[in-house]
Amino acid sequence: MTILVTGGAGYIGSHTVLYLQEQGEKVVVLDSLQKGHKQAVVDVPFYQGELHDNAVLDRIFVDNKIDAVIHFAADSLVGESVKDPLKYYDNNVIGTHHLVKKMIEYDVKTIVFSSTAATYGEPDSIPIQESDTTVPTNPYGETKLAIEKLLKWSDQAYGLKSVCLRYFNAAGADPEGRIGEDHTPETHLIPIVLQVALGQRDNVKMFGDDYPTEDGTCVRDYIHVMDLAQAHYLAVKKLKSTKQSAIYNLGNGQGFSVKQVIDTCRNVTEHDIPAEVAPRRAGDPAILIASSEKAKTELEWTPQYPELEAIISHAWDWHHNNPNGFEE
Ligand code: UFG
Repeated sequence: MTILVTGGAGYIGSHTVLYLQEQGEKVVVLDSLQKGHKQAVVDVPFYQGELHDNAVLDRIFVDNKIDAVIHFAADSLVGESVKDPLKYYDNNVIGTHHLVKKMIEYDVKTIVFSSTAATYGEPDSIPIQESDTTVPTNPYGETKLAIEKLLKWSDQAYGLKSVCLRYFNAAGADPEGRIGEDHTPETHLIPIVLQVALGQRDNVKMFGDDYPTEDGTCVRDYIHVMDLAQAHYLAVKKLKSTKQSAIYNLGNGQGFSVKQVIDTCRNVTEHDIPAEVAPRRAGDPAILIASSEKAKTELEWTPQYPELEAIISHAWDWHHNNPNGFEE
C-alpha cells in the first residue's frame, strides 16, 4: 500500500510514519513544517505545503498512487483555540474539507483521522465510551468533532470510508530513540516534567490540587505514541477489508494523577523535580479515562507499552539524548 500521511513530520505523525515503514508500507508525507520537523522523517517522498494548497495536493495524487490517507495535519493547542477559534476552523475544518475534496476527485476513499478525547468535553461517566455524548468545551475539540461529522456525511454521500481515532494523552517516544516529542511551546505534562529533570526549567506547576480526585490533581489516561501508531495501521487495514466506517477511543483504560506522573518521572530519571501547586488551568476536566474495548475487539489493537514507567522512560531517553529536540 502507499499511504499519504498529512502532518507526518509532527509528533504522532512522525512516529506513525516510522511504524508504517517498519511494516514495509510505502509512505508519502505532506507537512507544512509550521510545527513539524523535517528531520523526524527519513526515506519518504516529502511534500511541504498546506492542506489548502490545491496545487500541492494535485501533485501528491498525480505523482503517487495513494491507497489511503492518515490525516494528522491540524492545530492542536486547546488554549490557543479558545483565543483564536477562527484559526482552528480554518486550518482544521476547512483544511480537511480541501483534502477530502481532492481525495474524492482522485477516487481515494479510505481515511484514518486523528481525533481526540476533547470531542467529549466533560465526561458523562468514566471510563468514556465512544457512544457517550460529545459536547466539546473548546474550539479545538469542536473542530475535531466537526471533521468527524464531515467524514460521516461524506461516507453517506460519496462512499468515503473513515476511521476516527479519539486519542487520550499521547506520550512517550520511539523505543529505539530515533525520534521523540519536540513542541515549541511545550504545553504537555510529561515533556515539561522531563525538562525540569534536565535543568531546563526550575519546577513544574501542578495546575490545581483541589479536584475531586484521590490526591486532588487531574487524572489522565496516558497512551504510548507507538501504540497509537499501531492503531492507525490496523485502522487502515480494517477499512480496506471491511469498508465500514467507525470511531474508536485509544487509551490504556488506566488513570494517573499529575502527582503520580511527576513521581514516576522522579523514579525514572532519578532527579528531584521540584513541583509547586498553581491555579487550575481553564477547561481541564478532573478525570479522563478511556474505554478502548471497542478498538481492542474490532481492530485487534494490542498496546505494547501500557505501563506508565515504559512510556516515561522512552520519553526520557529521547529528551536526555536530545535536550534541544531536533535542533542540532
Ligand atoms: N498539567 C500541569 N502542569 C503542566 C502541564 C499540564 O499540571 O505544566 C496538567 C494539566 O492540567 C492536565 C494534565 O497535566 O491535568 C495533562 O495535561 P496535558 O496538557 O499534558 O494534556 P491534556 O490532558 O490537557 O490534553 C490532552 C491532549 C489534547 C486534548 C486533551 C483532551 O494533549 O490534545 O487531552 O482533553 F485536547
